[in-house]
Amino acid sequence: MPGIVLVGAQWGDEGKGKATDLIGTKVDYVARFNGGNNAGHTVVVGDESYALHLLPSGIISPNATPVIGNGVVVDPEVLFQEIDGLEERGIDCSRLLVSESAQVIAPYHRTIDKVTERFAGKKKIGTTGRGIGPAYADKINRVGIRVSDLFDEEVLRDKVESALHQKNQILVKLYNRRAVDVDATVEELLALGERLKPYAANTSLVLNQALDEGKTVLFEGGQATMLDIDHGTYPFVTSSNPTAGGACTGTGVGPTKIDRVIGVSKAYVTRVGEGPFPTELFDEWGEWLRAQGHEYGVTTGRPRRCGWFDAVVNRYATQVNGLTDIVLTKLDVLTGLEEIPICVAYDVDGVRYDDMPTDQRAFAAAKPIYETMPGWTEDISQVHRFEDLPATCQAYVKRLEELSGCRISAIGTGPQRDHIIEVHSLLD
Ligand code: GDP
Ligand code: IMO
Ligand code: MG
Repeated sequence: MPGIVLVGAQWGDEGKGKATDLIGTKVDYVARFNGGNNAGHTVVVGDESYALHLLPSGIISPNATPVIGNGVVVDPEVLFQEIDGLEERGIDCSRLLVSESAQVIAPYHRTIDKVTERFAGKKKIGTTGRGIGPAYADKINRVGIRVSDLFDEEVLRDKVESALHQKNQILVKLYNRRAVDVDATVEELLALGERLKPYAANTSLVLNQALDEGKTVLFEGGQATMLDIDHGTYPFVTSSNPTAGGACTGTGVGPTKIDRVIGVSKAYVTRVGEGPFPTELFDEWGEWLRAQGHEYGVTTGRPRRCGWFDAVVNRYATQVNGLTDIVLTKLDVLTGLEEIPICVAYDVDGVRYDDMPTDQRAFAAAKPIYETMPGWTEDISQVHRFEDLPATCQAYVKRLEELSGCRISAIGTGPQRDHIIEVHSLLD
């Protein structure tokens, strides 16, 4: 089973870190292909909890080589903070490989992210403020800085000058900020490049050679399907392709090398930041889910918006990612509910939608059509076989599977590594 892609099926924070770790202990490479340190992936091993932002979750598995692919935007300062923090806790990060072609988040990208959001006022996206959008914008505008540029002062200076030529006009004249100094920026980036050099590699070549040798590569997505720049709830999205296709463009591995696509879904839904969210709960049940599920952002600490499971979203995720398996997480959080609503379709101005509306206005106006399943009260955190779950819990999972159009292969019953029910192997 050489090429496995793992993506978020909802609006992020589904438990991709835990799902990656579950497989990561058995694979040879774990490669991030999109996003940057806007991600916050949690891996819990025993008493230790690791919050990973830029590093692939495979860094925790001593046998996997962690790779940051070309589709990622790398903030070198954050990368070193993360490496230092992990090494202090005894995690060896020396195996890390960073694509020479990955884009760099420079300090001015962070500044622009923040001032743009402030300027947008009520129309803000609610970004993580990490410079993600501005760094991807520069990539597309062809004024971005790549990792390999940090190793050549002449090239770097030329690129920083070009980038700042326009940005300083905007910063000073539009946002009333101080201009960014070219020399200081070049110096800072050169110093970071010096430290980054030993990790830099032609990661497309490395991954393709590994796959040709029959090694297993897990492609770990950041963000999620509904935050995808093409397929998500545009404009309330991130600036990359977290969907499965992004694994190919974001690592330089062709689609013929991908054997499996795993979508990670919560047994309910959360979202951080702005944008439409049909099943969002504004009543005490929203509060209840947030409290039971500890729904606060790993990256920004923001409270997550909470709602019931949305099967329209999951069917859509099955479609746009070509999902072969779903890992359903946080089922334990629903324990104690008398009944559990599931959104099976939308009502948009009296018209029923079984599939995702592509029109932004229709999606914003979508009212969930619910069906209700009976809940359960038994503690499920120690259950390891599907048949041992309470009958109503089994029925809930089976219904989600049917509505999602994809089999549920693993079920999360708690944050720990062993809080998992494996229904079908994720590796064979
Ligand atoms: P990611 O961004 O998709 O990796 O997800 P996050 O790490 O941002 O958020 C998921 C949170 O849920 C983390 O705190 C995990 O430790 C936790 N978690 C993951 N799976 C489960 C589960 O099955 N049950 C419970 N109770 N918590 C889980
Ligand atoms: P993981 O990988 C949840 C959201 C932000 C905002 C929008 C754009 O942990 O699931 P950006 O900073 O990317 O320009 O912000 O995307 N967002 C996430 N929400 N989980 C994430 O990552 C996210 N990464 C970005 O809240 O709404
Ligand atoms: Mg997260």
